Amino acid sequence: MTTPVIIDTDPGIDDAVAILCALKSSALRVLGLTTVAGNIPLARTTENAGRILALAGADMPVVSGADRPLVRAPFAATDVHGGDGLGGVALPPPRAPARTDAVGWIARTLRDHPEGQIDLLVLGPMTNIALLLREDEDAARRVRRIVAMGGAIAEPGNVGPRAEFNMAADPEAAEAVFAAGLRLTLIPLDVTRKVRAGPCEVAELAASLREDARAAAALIEAYFQSTDGGEIPASRPLHDPCVMLFEEAPALFGCEDMHLSVDLSPPRAGGALLEGPHPVRVARRVDGSRALALLMERLMAP
Ligand code: BDR
Ligand code: CA
Repeated sequence: MTTPVIIDTDPGIDDAVAILCALKSSALRVLGLTTVAGNIPLARTTENAGRILALAGADMPVVSGADRPLVRAPFAATDVHGGDGLGGVALPPPRAPARTDAVGWIARTLRDHPEGQIDLLVLGPMTNIALLLREDEDAARRVRRIVAMGGAIAEPGNVGPRAEFNMAADPEAAEAVFAAGLRLTLIPLDVTRKVRAGPCEVAELAASLREDARAAAALIEAYFQSTDGGEIPASRPLHDPCVMLFEEAPALFGCEDMHLSVDLSPPRAGGALLEGPHPVRVARRVDGSRALALLMERLMAP
């Protein structure tokens, strides 16, 4: 069984590793990448998405979306991802120009497929998905489910005491997506911090004969250089790849059904997850070593 997926993303070092993982998984068929402002501004997340596809020799569309959060000013994560979003790792230029209108493209793609077939894999702020719900809710309701990296449940946040970047960058969008009642699984920091790459994984990837595996090594190495409040420097959590690993191997994760809402307070406090009315399935546990082993298998694969 191959699941058709749309990846909504703000690459982003860990987004790049996640996209490479998805492209190499025979369980997933990536229909296209839609981009959003998040880790860095939209023009660069879009260019990076094209560069990642060029590296992987893949030809699906890249479609740019929202260049800012729904209501608040953007804040970026260049301290983690570098000014270019890829930690200075040079990837080949995009093979084709990106399209525009991610929301329209997602809606058309959902209508072109049977209802309940496509999964939306969300690796950045939820702005594009909130706009899809606002502009074409019927199309949005054709998704099978959304799997999104975001939030922190029983863990400290990474941009505020309880706030995680993707939620905090556009809390109003996350709240709108939670409130829509679509089938949604959230992969929070509680889980992603348990799937960590260290020097051994970098060395294994760097020794590969494959250019994309060596690029993954360089990306993870660059991630080591970044600052990310309180993270152990000897290894780095691979946040966004966990979405792909969940999509391919959900048995590696333990989920709970929770009721949540998103704190809409000012920046940095905003974005914390609160108990609330919206049903959300949340990954609470992961077999970190098996998840990392699966990721390595994918990144090393032809
Ligand atoms: C999330 O924030 C971004 O910086 C990463 O790409 C990931 O999506 C982790 O909090
Ligand atoms: Ca991301």
